[in-house]
Amino acid sequence: MEWKEDHLRLLDQTLLPHQSVWKELRTWQECANAIQTMMVRGAPAIAVCGCYGLALAALANEPDLNLVARSLLQTRPTAVNLQICLNRMMAIPQKTFVDLLNAAQEFEREDRELCNAIGENGQAIVKPNARILTICNTGALATAGDGTALAVIRHAHRSGKAIHVYTCETRPRMQGLKLTAWELLQEEIPFTSIVDSAAAMLMQSNQIDVVIAGADRIAANGDTANKIGTYMLAVIAAHHKVPFYIAAPRTTFDLATAEGSKIIIEERADTEVTTIEGHPMAAAGTKVYNPAFDVTPNDLITGFITESGIIKPPFSFDALGKR
Ligand code: MRU
Repeated sequence: MEWKEDHLRLLDQTLLPHQSVWKELRTWQECANAIQTMMVRGAPAIAVCGCYGLALAALANEPDLNLVARSLLQTRPTAVNLQICLNRMMAIPQKTFVDLLNAAQEFEREDRELCNAIGENGQAIVKPNARILTICNTGALATAGDGTALAVIRHAHRSGKAIHVYTCETRPRMQGLKLTAWELLQEEIPFTSIVDSAAAMLMQSNQIDVVIAGADRIAANGDTANKIGTYMLAVIAAHHKVPFYIAAPRTTFDLATAEGSKIIIEERADTEVTTIEGHPMAAAGTKVYNPAFDVTPNDLITGFITESGIIKPPFSFDALGKR
């Protein structure tokens, strides 16, 4: 994603890994659509795109920026970063285009730094030769920087730890198979892709040393919403005594939400499940339930890797300070 004078250039993630197509977003509605259709995805990247969307609305002299912010928020309700960043932008007194653009660029810069700090802090829990299981895509595509869970992996590789990564394919959108694998290939980080249901078998046969996942919203008690399937990984990790970490910046912590049961879980179209690349897989009329996220209870989480260090139980997020 890059801002260009009067529009946002965005790498369309729905076309990766086979095509690298950059789209030009010139209106806030195009930004909203890009978030909704997952041309851009991953909690921090969604937030940055939404902030540029609000700036584009100001550039177009949109009369009601509150309405624009509300519409942007509805695109993907679970990831809290968008809400936190848009609230901060709406608190700017004048909300001129220049004010909002500066704020959006500041969020982007800030996210890059947060990713870097998460990557560094995560090194405390990555041993040399570690076999790391991860889910979804938490990398450069999902953030403005190196990523969250994937930043920990990147920094481990760069420091010569000889790690091996297992990436869950992440049904139904395949972010692990399509996007994480693409990022790992570019950096020549050794990895193996697995179907989601192979994770338990790998842990049972002692092939995983640590699980590191990202987050879309972390409640005040540490309950964590992340990509559907994350909870399942946490349960099997606990069963096999494999440490389970969440890597996330302060913009993913929602201290106004007491616990995970209060987090809104986005449901997406049934065609994401019944079709693959547009080809029907299921018989017509097949009923589908397609929640995009699940909530991992705090007692299954070994620790949170944040820009302020690793937070262990009993969880207190005071260290994350004011955002
Ligand atoms: O539906 P997605 O692809 O936006 O879901 C992304 C995730 O679940 C990520 O783990 C999360 O946003 C953190 S990305 C740094």
